[in-house]
Amino acid sequence: MILVTGGTGLVGAHLLYRLISNNEKVRAIYRTERKLENTKNVFSTYTKDYNHLFNAIEWVQADLIDVPSLSEAFKDITHVYHSAAFVSFEPDKYHLLRKTNIEGTANIVNFCISNAIEKLCYVSSIATLGSTFSNDTIDEDTNWNPETDNSVYAITKYGAEMEVWRGTQEGLDAVIVNPGVILGAGIWYYGTGSLFKKARKGLKYFTSGTVGLISVDDVVSIMIELMNSQIKNERYVLVAENWTYKNFLQSLAHAVGAKPPKKLASVKLLYIAWKLDWLNHKITGKRRQLTKQIAKSLTTEKHHNSSKIKTALNYKFKAIDETIRIIGKHYQK
Ligand SMILES: NC(=O)c1ccc[n+]([C@@H]2O[C@H](COP(=O)([O-])OP(=O)(O)OC[C@H]3O[C@@H](n4cnc5c(N)ncnc54)[C@H](OP(=O)(O)O)[C@@H]3O)[C@@H](O)[C@H]2O)c1
Repeated sequence: MILVTGGTGLVGAHLLYRLISNNEKVRAIYRTERKLENTKNVFSTYTKDYNHLFNAIEWVQADLIDVPSLSEAFKDITHVYHSAAFVSFEPDKYHLLRKTNIEGTANIVNFCISNAIEKLCYVSSIATLGSTFSNDTIDEDTNWNPETDNSVYAITKYGAEMEVWRGTQEGLDAVIVNPGVILGAGIWYYGTGSLFKKARKGLKYFTSGTVGLISVDDVVSIMIELMNSQIKNERYVLVAENWTYKNFLQSLAHAVGAKPPKKLASVKLLYIAWKLDWLNHKITGKRRQLTKQIAKSLTTEKHHNSSKIKTALNYKFKAIDETIRIIGKHYQK
C-alpha cells in the first residue's frame, strides 16, 4: 500500500488523483477535515464525478511532527510519497518551518527505515540548489551555498533533503525531485493558484528576473515513474521552461482574460516595497507578502537545466504556455 503526505496540498492532491485513477491502494494523511476540501477541489478539475475516487482513499489523521499518529499511518505501507511541507518565506515562521520540514521529514525517513519501506519519493525544491556566478545553468550538481542570503524556506527544505540523504546512508532507497514553480489547477486561495486570482484582479508591474516553471501533471508523472523504476538515491531538477517574469505574469493575465502588466518594477521599487511590507507586518501583525529574499529572486536571472530527468526517463515536459492556458480556463469556471 502507498502512503501519501501532503494530500490536501497542490502536489499531493494531484498525485492522489493519479494514483487512485491507476487503481492503486492509497492511504493519505490529513490534519483537519476542512482541508479535505482542497483535495476535492483538485479532483473536481478532472471530473465532476469524483466522489468514488475520493472515497477510495484511506484517510488517516496524522501530523508530521506527531510520532504516534505517523506510526498508525505507516501500518502495511510499502511505498511513500512525501510531499507535505510548510511553505512559507516569512522569517518569523522559521521555528515552525524547521519543525515541519526538517524534523517532520526526519520522522518520515525514520518510519521508512523502521518499516522497511521499499522506496521513498521526496518532493524537495530548486530552492535547495546553489547559484552560479556566470550565466551557467543550475543543475543537480550546483551545490547549496550556506554563505548566501538563503530564505528560511530554502534553509529548511535543504535540511529536509539532508534527512533523506541520511536515510539512504542507513539503507533506505529514495528519489528526490527538485521542482521549480509548480503550476496546477484547483487551489486558488494561496500558492501558485493565487497568482491566477491576482492576475484576474489586475497586475500593474512585472519584474526583471526569471522563473523556472513546471506543470503539476509533469511533477506527478515523474514522481510515479521514478517510484516505479529501478532508479534510487538520485535527485532531479524539474523545470520544464525558464521564463522571464514579464512573460509569465503577462501570460497569466491573458489566461484569465485580464489586462497584462505593462510596467517594470525597478529594484529600488521592490526594495521600498519589501521594507513597507515588513513595517506593515510589525504594526498590524499581518502576514508578510514580500520578503527581502523574494524581492531578490524576482529580479534575479537563473536558468535551470533538467537534462538529467529527460535522459533518465526519456521524458518530454508539457509546454508551459498551454499549461497556463488550461489552468486559466479552470480558474474562470
Ligand atoms: N508549489 C510549488 O510551486 C512548489 C515548488 C517547489 C517545491 N514544492 C514542494 O512541493 C511540496 C508540495 O507543495 P504544495 O504546493 O503542494 O504545498 P501546499 O499546497 O502548501 O501543501 C502542503 C501540504 O503539506 C501539509 N502539511 C503541512 N504541514 C504539515 C504537518 N505538520 N503535518 C502533516 N502535513 C502537513 C499540508 O496539510 P494541511 O492542509 O493540513 O495544511 C498540505 O497538505 C512541498 O514539499 C513543497 O516544498 C512546491
